[in-house]
Amino acid sequence: MTAPGWALEVARDDPTATTLLDVDVPDPADGEAVLRVERVGVTANNVTYAVLGDTLHYWDFFPAAGAGAGRVPLWGFAEVTASRADGVGAGQRLYGYLPPASHLLVRPERAGASGFRDGSPHRAALPAVYNSYASADPGADAGQEDLQVLFRPLFLTSFLLADQLAGQDADVVVLSSASSKTAYGTAFLLSGGDVEVVGLTSPGNVGFTRSLGCYDRVLPYDAVTELAAEPTAYVDVAGSTPLRQELHRHLGADLVLDLVVGVTHRDTSPPGPLDGPRPTVFFAPDRMAARTADWGRAGFEERSGAAWRRFAPAVAAWVDVRVSSVPQALRDVWLEVLGGGGDPRAGHVVRL
Ligand SMILES: NC(=O)c1ccc[n+]([C@@H]2O[C@H](COP(=O)([O-])OP(=O)(O)OC[C@H]3O[C@@H](n4cnc5c(N)ncnc54)[C@H](OP(=O)(O)O)[C@@H]3O)[C@@H](O)[C@H]2O)c1
Repeated sequence: MTAPGWALEVARDDPTATTLLDVDVPDPADGEAVLRVERVGVTANNVTYAVLGDTLHYWDFFPAAGAGAGRVPLWGFAEVTASRADGVGAGQRLYGYLPPASHLLVRPERAGASGFRDGSPHRAALPAVYNSYASADPGADAGQEDLQVLFRPLFLTSFLLADQLAGQDADVVVLSSASSKTAYGTAFLLSGGDVEVVGLTSPGNVGFTRSLGCYDRVLPYDAVTELAAEPTAYVDVAGSTPLRQELHRHLGADLVLDLVVGVTHRDTSPPGPLDGPRPTVFFAPDRMAARTADWGRAGFEERSGAAWRRFAPAVAAWVDVRVSSVPQALRDVWLEVLGGGGDPRAGHVVRL
C-alpha cells in the first residue's frame, strides 16, 4: 500500500535548515506494526537531541532519507494503524519516542497489556528507555495527555536528579536554566527539604522562575557572587562554560558536586581549568537503569508515579499549553524552540 505520509528532516550540521518530505506510509511485514504519530511535544530537550545527535546517537533512532539529514526524536502519543505483530492491534494507543513524521514502523517485542518494546535491529544498541512504548491510559483526558507529552521524560529526569541529590553532602543545590522544565521539576521535588534550592536564570526569566515558588532563591546569571560560601551542589542545565568557571572561581572548595545535565545555552567554548570538582555527566537512562535494578520495575514506577501525582497539579498552573496542528506547524514550533528566547511558560504540543 502506498499512501501519503510526511517526515520533517533537518540538516544535522544546521538544524535550522528543514525539509518537509512526502513519504510513503509503511506497510507492516510479519512481526511489524505501523504507528501513526498523533501528538508530540517540543522543548529544549529535543534541541539537545539534535545538538548531541552524533555524540549520543540520537540520529540513529529514526534514519533520515536525505544525505546529511536527521529526524529529531520527539516524545508523544501514537496510534497503531496496522499490525502483523502478536499482541498489538489496530487502534491501540501508546506513549513513547517518535519521529517528526506521520508514521513509524516498529517490530514489537514483549507485547503485553502495558505496551511493548521496539526490537528493530537498528535500535538494539540504543538505551532501552527510548525503545519502550507504553499503553496510553484510556482514562486520561486530552489535557492530562498534553502534560505527559511535555513533561514525562523531563520529570522522570527531575525525579532521578532529586533522588541522586538527596544522597549528597550539600547544604545548597544550585540549578542553571532554572526556568526550564527539567530544572523546575527538580526544584519542586527538593523544595521543603533540608537543602536550600537556588535557581540561576536569564534576567528576563527571573520573574517567571520566582513566580513558581519552588526555589528558595532565584538569581540572574550575573549574580553568582551573591551565593554564600556553603557546601554546594551545582546542577548544570544550561551547559555554559563561562557560568561554570565563575561558579568554580567563586565557590572553590565549597563546590562539592558539578553535575552536567543539559546544554540549553548551546555554548561551544572550551572547558578550561576549573577550581572545583571535575564535572560529572548525568545521563537519565543510566541512572534509571541503576534505580530500576535497586528498586525493581514496580518499585521504580511506584516512586516516580507518586512524585508525578504531586507535581502534575502544580505544573498545570505553571505552563500554558500551546497546541498547534499539521506538519507545517511542527516545523514552525521546532524553529521557534530552536531559536530560544521564547516565553518559559509556553509548552508546545503539536497534534497531528
Ligand atoms: N542529562 C539527561 O539525561 C537529560 C534528561 C532530560 C533533559 N535534559 C536536558 O535538560 C535541558 C532542559 O530541557 P527542557 O526540555 O527542560 O528545557 P525547556 O523547558 O524547553 O527550557 C527552556 C529554557 O532553556 C533556556 N534556553 C532554551 N533555549 C535557549 C537558547 N537558545 N539560548 C539560551 N537559553 C535557552 C532558557 O532558560 P534560562 O533562561 O533559565 O537559561 C529557557 O527558558 C536540555 O538540554 C535537555 O536535553 C537532560
